[in-house]
Amino acid sequence: PATSLQDIIAHAKEYGFVFPSSEIYDGLQAVYDYGQNGVELKNNLKTLWWKAMTQLHDNVVGIDASIFMHPLTWKASGHVDSFNDPMIDNKDSKKRYRADQLLELKAEAYANAGDEEKSTALLQEMGRLLGNNDLEGVRNLIIAEGIKDPVSGTDNWTEVRQFNLMFSTQVGSLAEDASLIYLRPETAQGIFVNFLNVQKTGRMKIPFGIAQIGKAFRNEIVARQFTFRMREFEQMEMQFFVRPGTEMEWYERWRDTRMKFHQAAGLPAEKLKFHIHEKLAHYANAAVDIEYKFPFGFREMEGIHSRTDFDLKSHQELSRKKQQYFDNDIDEATGKPYGNYIPYVVETSVGADRLFLAVFCNAFTKETVGEGDQQKERTYLKLHPALAPVKAAVFPLVRKDGLPEKAEEIVKSLRSEFRVVYEERDAIGKRYTRQDLIGTPFCIAVDYQTLEDDTVTIRYRDTTEQIRVPIGELKARIGQEVSM
Ligand code: GAP
Repeated sequence: PATSLQDIIAHAKEYGFVFPSSEIYDGLQAVYDYGQNGVELKNNLKTLWWKAMTQLHDNVVGIDASIFMHPLTWKASGHVDSFNDPMIDNKDSKKRYRADQLLELKAEAYANAGDEEKSTALLQEMGRLLGNNDLEGVRNLIIAEGIKDPVSGTDNWTEVRQFNLMFSTQVGSLAEDASLIYLRPETAQGIFVNFLNVQKTGRMKIPFGIAQIGKAFRNEIVARQFTFRMREFEQMEMQFFVRPGTEMEWYERWRDTRMKFHQAAGLPAEKLKFHIHEKLAHYANAAVDIEYKFPFGFREMEGIHSRTDFDLKSHQELSRKKQQYFDNDIDEATGKPYGNYIPYVVETSVGADRLFLAVFCNAFTKETVGEGDQQKERTYLKLHPALAPVKAAVFPLVRKDGLPEKAEEIVKSLRSEFRVVYEERDAIGKRYTRQDLIGTPFCIAVDYQTLEDDTVTIRYRDTTEQIRVPIGELKARIGQEVSM
């Protein structure tokens, strides 16, 4: 049977990957905490991305900008004026919905009933009304389509209001003229405002990129899809600055590079696809998503956007500081240097939490093993060894006769290379199972033969096959498999 999101949520919680935030107070909607194993997996994913970006490209460097930024940043980026969702409330249930989502669901229902034409027409009408910011028209459409609140069953709707997704707070005390400040809704702007700092101090030549990993915050209206849509989440973004006119070439290159990354992280090609945007945001001249097949369907995991010079130009206007680059390469058409210009930007933006969820869902494996009445179900996480929270677990067969000491010695000899744990509780079969459930790729067992010839068994998670190897070979054997 197919894995359900409920299976994933339950496993993530039970084995220390993801907990609901402040759970003892019954949690906080759309906010989650990573547990002892989750943080390791997430850190491994972040390290993988960081290396893929900054280490494998000599023209990409990283930064770590603040969550708080000058309020004008969000004016320049367009977030103050247009980072909105149209909301509608049902007066009977007091539930709030995204108006566009209600209409999209209706369109989906038409399509499922075979009426593609009606479905498309509805989406087009919605697009037209939202494009004109005709909120009354959106409400009338919801009523005309007979859309009812699933909770109250009524169509007693309020007006539609635009609801800004940014969280805000105050800086400074009231006395000293406190001012409104936002929690960043994307990490990208921290890169744009540092473009010249990095370019000058790093003597960077176009084309070059700046990468960043960090928290972002959005007051999302939540669709109960676990960590897929959160109010506090983490982004891994890179802005690649290019000469105007070359952006499509770089857009295509990054699109393909990023798809390869996800496959290298172990996501199978058939669960990944591109989704090209036909309707473009005001700042973009091309945009594509990389979608992953989550248990609830293909959904966006990463966006690759050609953002033109929209952001830098806008920051130049509001800050009144030139955001130009001097390009002394010779333009063959004119025989002169390209000179000063505001660079164009190709952006790659992936949610660390969405990548985590994709990798976790993909790794979750349930198998029936054994024959006849020996048959049983085995659950394990088939994570790439480089991503596994624990790389190896070392077990003494019994808790006596010097086996624990020998096992501890092995742990000590390996722990500076990779994450190793020692485990002696319960029968050895149970210990294997516990490691399978968190995705540990290698279990090393110390037995009486070890004391005689310094060999141990390694058990492989995916095949459960065991082989005997000299202790001296462990570091090299495992080390090779846990690197990427
Ligand atoms: N700088 C461009 C930008 O922020 P976006 O499509 O809004 O573009 C990029 O977000 C990525 O960030 C998404 O593809 C997704 O992986 C992640 N993301 C966005 N909103 C999220 C949320 N509420 N929870 C988790 N991840 C989110």
